[in-house]
Amino acid sequence: MENVKISVIPGDGIGKEVVPATLEVLDTLAELHGGLKFHYEVHPWSSEYYLENGEMMPKDGMKQLKETDAIYLGAVGNPTLVPDHVSLWGLLIKIRRECEQVINLRPVKYIPGVQSPLANPRNFDFIVVRENSEGEYSEVGGRIHRGEDEIAVQNAVFTRKATERTIRYAFELAKERKGKVTSATKSNGIVHSMPFWDQVFKEVGQEYADIQTESNHIDALSAFLVSKPHSLDVIVASNLFGDILTDLGAAIMGSIGIAPAANININGKYPSMFEPVHGSAPDIVGLGVANPIGQLWTAKMMLDHLGYQELGTTLLNAIKTTTSQGIKTSDIGGSSSMQEVIGAVIANIE
Ligand code: NAI
Ligand code: MG
Repeated sequence: MENVKISVIPGDGIGKEVVPATLEVLDTLAELHGGLKFHYEVHPWSSEYYLENGEMMPKDGMKQLKETDAIYLGAVGNPTLVPDHVSLWGLLIKIRRECEQVINLRPVKYIPGVQSPLANPRNFDFIVVRENSEGEYSEVGGRIHRGEDEIAVQNAVFTRKATERTIRYAFELAKERKGKVTSATKSNGIVHSMPFWDQVFKEVGQEYADIQTESNHIDALSAFLVSKPHSLDVIVASNLFGDILTDLGAAIMGSIGIAPAANININGKYPSMFEPVHGSAPDIVGLGVANPIGQLWTAKMMLDHLGYQELGTTLLNAIKTTTSQGIKTSDIGGSSSMQEVIGAVIANIE
């Protein structure tokens, strides 16, 4: 029997709906595989937990997570109970940093049956490799002379180590895909960090003779996501650029409710974390209409990462069959409930 230990954090809002529902699907896949069992350690860490305990997770929370093979998270955030920066930094960012999840991966793919806002969405299929530990999201800087003469300084931090490992990760990924890496830059406007980024991109690229490369300024690249997304394969981007591009990526797929993401630990010391791009969606909580596809596709990424690529492929195919059958929640133009979508995905797996 292969036993896989998964930390499960449903979190807030619709996280508490889509996470339990998708565990059913994971169990179906494990049964199909045979000899495989997922053991879930479910944690109630959330905004409500914070109200009761004054912290987002217990003192030994990180230790508990680190003893498992992967972290499967729904969404965190309930701004009416706890300010977003408290819940975000107390849980999500804490896990990303302490588990050294230095790469954020977000696939963007045309899903049949899901209406894209693009007029002519050719079969696009690309993935964004986002630097997840530094860059523009640094705590270096400050504010002085509060008031009329105030100055705010925010420093971006680009180390050779992090820049190189992110770019290298993108090239390795391109080897298994269509063999092209696009670098998101802005070296015409940002005159120190971005020329450095370009230089490292060029240096690493020289080690991969078979991979096609291109470097695009972030503004032009954003436009390409709309005008010719089918031309893209792997995009490598800094923390900020990757963040913004992937929301645009989710938008061209048709809904933020279907977009998946993974925070990858690449040194094998700690587990990676899998979470959809969407948040806790307070506006639809309790209605039973949350789209589970973002969470399901996230589960597919987790299966791939754990070495069960065959199951991951089966899951994605079952999702595509379900949307093609018109079994969809309202955010992507259907009228099915979350449970109906889950039921159909399970039927399509079996
Ligand atoms: P959101 O992603 O929760 O919702 C944005 C819009 O998309 C809403 O209209 C919502 O109904 C819809 N939506 C999102 N997921 C959906 C799904 N699966 N099915 C159908 N519709 C869906 O973003 P928002 O409203 O800005 O944030 C709400 C809370 O979530 C905040 O506290 C925020 O900080 C948090 N958040 C947490 C994230 C995380 O845990 N990684 C990511 C984004 C936001
Ligand atoms: Mg974002």
